[in-house]
Amino acid sequence: MKVAVSLLAFDFTDLKNQLMEVEKRVDWLHFDVMDGNFVPNISFGPQVLKDVSKVSGLYKDVHLMIERPHRYIEDFKKAGADLITFHLEAYDQSAEVLDCLKLIKSFGLKAGLSIKPATDPSTLRTYLALLDLVLVMSVEPGFGGQSFMPSSLDKVAYLKSAKVKENYNYLIEVDGGVNDQNAPLLKAKGAEVLVSGSYIMRGDIASNIEKLK
Ligand code: DX5
Ligand code: ZN
Repeated sequence: MKVAVSLLAFDFTDLKNQLMEVEKRVDWLHFDVMDGNFVPNISFGPQVLKDVSKVSGLYKDVHLMIERPHRYIEDFKKAGADLITFHLEAYDQSAEVLDCLKLIKSFGLKAGLSIKPATDPSTLRTYLALLDLVLVMSVEPGFGGQSFMPSSLDKVAYLKSAKVKENYNYLIEVDGGVNDQNAPLLKAKGAEVLVSGSYIMRGDIASNIEKLK
């Protein structure tokens, strides 16, 4: 199991120390980018990613919760992103989704698509063959610290069975309210990357991370 820690749960007055604390322990850094439109909250943009890239060699997993994400792909590439995931719900037309995926790949980056809790995973069907990652939201995107929605377990199972059946390459990532209680359930359904913010950063960071693996 890969573990991605969400920077949303970090204390930004102590950012460098917190990065050093997770550096050798987690697999990925997860950047939750929010624009106040696609989701009600505003977080941070490419500058934070750029600064973090100077001190951390970890794989950078960028989760864009923004409208018209194609406008910012180049900025996040330049800032050090390895993987960029955007939301299926950010576009009305499937041609726009495909264009954004192509744009991400044109920069040599891995491309992911995410779905909100109310979106059926079958709506991803036409894109699955093109994806490096599918991100299942297990909370309503916008805020850290919310409770895990068990309905995400069936979505993971659906994506796992499609992957096995069709020999797809995407990783299955789950984000929101992940902790040591639901991690084994997610793993059993086929999750391959777990994002966690609040659970990891509260208490003993090293032991929390180990319990998710
Ligand atoms: C929610 C974000 C998540 C979330 C993770 O919009 O995408 O990454 O904040 O944080 P916890 O683990 O606190 O739910
Ligand atoms: Zn996220």
